[in-house]
Amino acid sequence: MLYAFELSGEHDFLPCKEVFACLSMEGLEYREHAFYDQCLVLDIEGHSIDEKLVFIAGRLAMSHHILKVVGICEVKTDQIIEMCDNSDLSSHLSEGQTYVVRAKRARHHGEVNREFIEGRLGGSIFRKGFRANLKDPDVTFRFIMTNMAVLGSIVASVDRGAYEHRAPHRKPFFYPGVLMPRVARALVNISQVKEGQILLDPFSGTAGILVEGGLVGAHVIGIEVRKKISHGARMNLDEYNADYSLLVADACHVSLKDSCVDAIVTDPPYGRSAAIRAESLQHLYTDSFAEMYRVLRQGKLAVVVSELKVVEFAEKAGFTVVDVFTQKVHKSLTRTFTILYKG
Ligand SMILES: C[S@@+](CC[C@H](N)C(=O)[O-])C[C@H]1O[C@@H](n2cnc3c(N)ncnc32)[C@H](O)[C@@H]1O
Repeated sequence: MLYAFELSGEHDFLPCKEVFACLSMEGLEYREHAFYDQCLVLDIEGHSIDEKLVFIAGRLAMSHHILKVVGICEVKTDQIIEMCDNSDLSSHLSEGQTYVVRAKRARHHGEVNREFIEGRLGGSIFRKGFRANLKDPDVTFRFIMTNMAVLGSIVASVDRGAYEHRAPHRKPFFYPGVLMPRVARALVNISQVKEGQILLDPFSGTAGILVEGGLVGAHVIGIEVRKKISHGARMNLDEYNADYSLLVADACHVSLKDSCVDAIVTDPPYGRSAAIRAESLQHLYTDSFAEMYRVLRQGKLAVVVSELKVVEFAEKAGFTVVDVFTQKVHKSLTRTFTILYKG
């Protein structure tokens, strides 16, 4: 069955990697059908797919909606109407259910007017014997104009507003240099940590990553060398009722047993002055990666975001590099995301 993930356009790779990680975590098998601008179409197999997708939408940060696909065609009015006219909607709408059609244009794609096509698609579904309800429909159809036109019914939606409410400056303790909650959540998802498992951030700062880990039900452990910042992290974690442990300590000497954490997500310091307690950034990265490798369980993932390239440090520590991708934040800041595996 084809499903479309309406991706946010805030990053080239993160939204898509986040979706893949969540599907794997839920044991859903998928095959990439098409990857359009802000729309990823997957052929998904498995049991209770819709139920699992509702759960996944509760974790995702960088998608808007998950759709069960009705059809895909070129962004041309005649083809769009013909596609809808010829579609069987029995797996989308049941007898007596009401519907609405909402259209969206990804960036500059397609010249078809949104309101016009909403009306025409609504008419096509009406002619199949269903009644529209613009205010409180049972089923919402979403029509996305991207490189192609994708029509589907919404299976689940992501509460993107919740991430805005957790913006760093709205938390009880703020200190500059923190990742935005949506990025932090996407990284937590990419680490595939599950409810009840242990997530470590050895450079926890104000707990931006740990708050997101706590909200997906992980027990989160943070290590932070500065007492004042660690105190702030506690305030932030308490605000979101996280199940957590915080240590004021050095990430290069971690007082945890070998192979005891299920996932690591971290954002180590970049600037030379930011490396505290280590002789140099070189030493900080060498020793902290060795510690990350030691405490992570076998078969698990570590996700590191850094301005520096960390592949060499990670491989030296024993990790296998699964993926590396970058994001240009602004002119002088490019972030590198590195996904590591302990085999
Ligand atoms: C880029 S910030 C992390 C920001 C964090 N993600 C947040 O949500 O606030 C890096 C953090 O690492 C801490 N740090 C620097 N050297 C450290 C060390 N040797 N051990 C543990 N933490 C260290 C800094 O104090 C800083 O808070």
